Order: sequence, then structure tokens, then C-alpha cells
Amino acid sequence: MSARLRCDKAPSWAKLQAHYDSKGRSLDLREAFASDADRFATLSQEAPYVFGDLSKNLIDAPTEALLMSLARECGLEAHRAAMFAGEHINNTEDRAVLHTLLRAPADASSTDDKLRDVHATLDAMLKYADQVRADHTITDVVNIGIGGSDLGPQMAVLALEEFVARGKRFHFVSNVDGHELAGVLKGLAPEHTLFLIASKTFTTAETMTNAISAKRWFQQSSRLDVAKHFAALTTNVKAAKDFGIDTTFGFWDWVGGRYSLWSAIGLPIALAIGSDGFRRLLAGAHAMDEHFRTAPLEQNLPVRLGLLDVWYRNFHRFTTRSIAPYHSALKRVPAYLQQLEMESNGKQVDANGQPLPYGTSPVLWGEPGTNGQHAYFQMLHQGTDVTPLEFVAVRDASHDLEGHHNKLLANALAQAQALMQGKADAGGHKNFPGNRPSTFFVFEKLTPEALGAFLAMYEHRVFTSGALWGINSFDQWGVELGKVLAKDIEPRLASGDASGLDASTAGLLERLRPV
Ligand code: F6P
Repeated sequence: MSARLRCDKAPSWAKLQAHYDSKGRSLDLREAFASDADRFATLSQEAPYVFGDLSKNLIDAPTEALLMSLARECGLEAHRAAMFAGEHINNTEDRAVLHTLLRAPADASSTDDKLRDVHATLDAMLKYADQVRADHTITDVVNIGIGGSDLGPQMAVLALEEFVARGKRFHFVSNVDGHELAGVLKGLAPEHTLFLIASKTFTTAETMTNAISAKRWFQQSSRLDVAKHFAALTTNVKAAKDFGIDTTFGFWDWVGGRYSLWSAIGLPIALAIGSDGFRRLLAGAHAMDEHFRTAPLEQNLPVRLGLLDVWYRNFHRFTTRSIAPYHSALKRVPAYLQQLEMESNGKQVDANGQPLPYGTSPVLWGEPGTNGQHAYFQMLHQGTDVTPLEFVAVRDASHDLEGHHNKLLANALAQAQALMQGKADAGGHKNFPGNRPSTFFVFEKLTPEALGAFLAMYEHRVFTSGALWGINSFDQWGVELGKVLAKDIEPRLASGDASGLDASTAGLLERLRPV
């Protein structure tokens, strides 16, 4: 196992604090641009399919240099190598973390069994996807899954809608709230429907409840064969079989749920954009993996972003970060990234279980621009808290409606400019303090490659901050307690038994019980 040093134990930690106290805290972006003609060039980064402009952030070359030293002292490079090498860096579950292998190209000369398994499964899944795409009797695909088994495919199918074949509708059912499944089932004909039961474990309560109800509906409304209209995407092939499903695409325990859209969990994406499209998504992610793995830290986009995150969270003590994709097809990206970042790095102990004396994951949130501008951007410009904002803009539109795209891009540029420049006003109400940080990402076009690269960039950025914080970014014990308590409460809703419950839960139980 690679030697890791927690960031607060590294010599550069105290140096960063001193630098923050003396200069970092008061950095003024307007002055920084005025005094450094190269600031945009030095603080922006070209990476595969994604250009990132970090120059409107509260950093400068000395800050970045100290952060780079911190990263080296913490053993970021060795930890990265350990991940790519398949070491069990998910130590609390004793698992490797190898989602990058899912996008590695096939290599006939490789002796790596895992890589061979990855490609055998990928080939089988993509063959199936193309068969179903060609089958015009299937008009509706319903993905039943939650968390990582829902957010990624749902986000990507929407994001790549330009590439989605006409003639099929995609539905995503995740919530145990029956309103969701009932609403989808209403519009379906069993003979034209394919259900995908997506669950790494095949035990998740929400997914199993929805899967059982979907199967019951299917059997009650047709005499068709479940095995032909249901497929499973899971590591638990036996449970899928017991459920009555013959067509199963598997994956492995070294693929975390929130890192699984590249695996069989991506089948809805492949059904939507075809096998070529899915391979392009993987290729984009792989290009970013190579960038992350090989580029020097100083020119490594995910590393620079992850270090900026540490600087903001632990020195500026910003508690949230917002993301504004200026492309309506990216509307589910904030929700996807919330799981990626907050389930990975929302931890209060280090990888050895020791309490941390500093903050970890920020709250990540956002809505597509320009919608956010007419909702909460007021607070970003004039509120009392500083929230770093991230813009994602796409140069080429995929529609030909006149005037729209330049208006959209002008808004993104103007918001970033306004946040930084501000505007003085003696009366106060119209005063914009400015100096509010933002990062600006540019894709040339919203292609499968660009989306793949962007998502991989985010994964590695989360890896970087998690590595410095000394945490295990690949477990999620925090979701367990609520699951256990829900099991205890469920029968009480029927029986009314409130014994042993706190007064608030007992009072609410009484109000929510059916009359
Ligand atoms: O919310 C916890 C979690 O384990 C996520 O990490 C995961 O993506 C989700 O539940 C779904 O799990 P599964 O794919 O096993 O149904």
C-alpha cells in the first residue's frame, strides 16, 4: 500500500496557512490580472476535450506552487499509481478501485484477466444494445436503479440527446415512491417495453421494490416471457437469476456505484447512442485518464482543480461550490456530480478511522445557466457568503435556431466577468463587491468524447482532494444507518407501535399512519 501523509501533517500545510494569512486571503482578482499579463495563460489548462480556465480563481503562481508541494508531500502521485495498479485503496471494503480499467482499450497482448473480462462483457453488452436498437418492437426502455445505477445513465442519455436514435423512449425510475413507477407504467405497453434492473448489489430496497412491482405489472398485463423483456446489470448474477432474469451483464466489486456508468450500468447509454457512441464515451474518459496519469502535476487539469478545492475548503473555508452548465442537455450533471463528490469525500475520518480536524467535501449544487441567473445568482453576486462557481460552456450548438447560442455564451461570459469585476455603488443596494471566484470549462462540442473526458476529469479531481485529505473516497458507510432504521419503522406504520421511538419520530409516525 502506498505511503500516504495526511495534508495537515505535511510541511506545506503550515506554509499554506501562513501564505493565506499574509497574502492569499486578500488576493484581488482585478489587481492580479492588471499586474500579470500572462495570468490567463498560466492559470488555464488544456486537457483532452476540455479546456479549463482557472484564472478567475483566488490563486496565483505561489499559491499553486505551495499546493503542488503539499500534493507531493502527501504522496498524491504514489496514491494515483496505487489506484491504477489495482491496489486495494478502498481499504474499508478491501477492494481495488479500477473504474479506469473499464475505459482502457482492448489489448490482445495483455495478460491482465481483468482487462480481458472487461472487454468480453463490453462486447457482449454492446452487441445486445445494437440488437435491441434494431428491434423496432421495443419502443420503451425503463431503467430501474438508484444512485450510481441511475444518475449516470440518466444524465448521459440526456446530455447526448443529439446522438440518441429516434424511435425509443428512455425512462428512469429510481425513487421508491410509487408515484414515479406508476406514472411511467401508465404510458407503457408490455410487448414494447424492455426493463433494465440496474443494481450493483441487487439488494437495494428501492430498486428491488420497483423491480418487483414492474414484474408484477408485466405479468398481470401480458402473457409474455419475463426473461425476454427484463435484463439485469449487476455484480450479483445469482440474485438476478433468482428474480427470473436470464440476460445479465455483470461487473465487478472494484467498480464503485458512483463510478459505474462505464460498466454494464451504462447499457441505457449504449441503447441510446449505440455501440460506437458508447465506445467514444469510453475513449474520451480514457484520454482524460491518461492525462491524469501522466501529465506533470503542474499541467494536470484534475490535479489543479483538486488542489484548488483543498485551498478553498480548508483555507478560505468556503463550504459550497456551484456548477452552472450553459447547455440545457447537461441539466442532470449537477445531480450526478453531487453523488460523485459528496458520497466520495463527505467523510469525517481519515482512511485509518482517525477524526479529521478540517473540512472535507463542500456542498455541490447547481442548475443550468441561464436559469440559475434568474433564481439564485443574486446571492452569488451580492450575498454574504462567497461561493465559487463553475461554468461549463460548449462552443458549437447542435441546433440552428438563430441568435440563441451567442446569447447563451454571452451570458456565461458576462456572469463570470460580473462576479469578478463587480461594480461600485455609493447607495449600497446596487453595489457588486466583485472578486468572486469562478472556473470556466469549454468544450468545442458536446460529443460522447467530451462528456466522457469531463466526467473522468471530475472523478480524478475528487480523487485528488480526497487523497490530500487522507480519506477513503471509495466507501459510503454514511448511507447505512438510515436504511437500517427505515426497516424498523416500516412495520410500525402499519401497526402503530411507537415503543422505544423518540417523541418526534413517534409523533410524526402517528400523523403519517393511514387513517
Ligand atoms: O446510496 C448508497 C449506494 O450504495 C450508492 O453508492 C449506490 O450507487 C446506490 O446505493 C445503489 O446501489 P446498487 O447499485 O447496489 O443498487
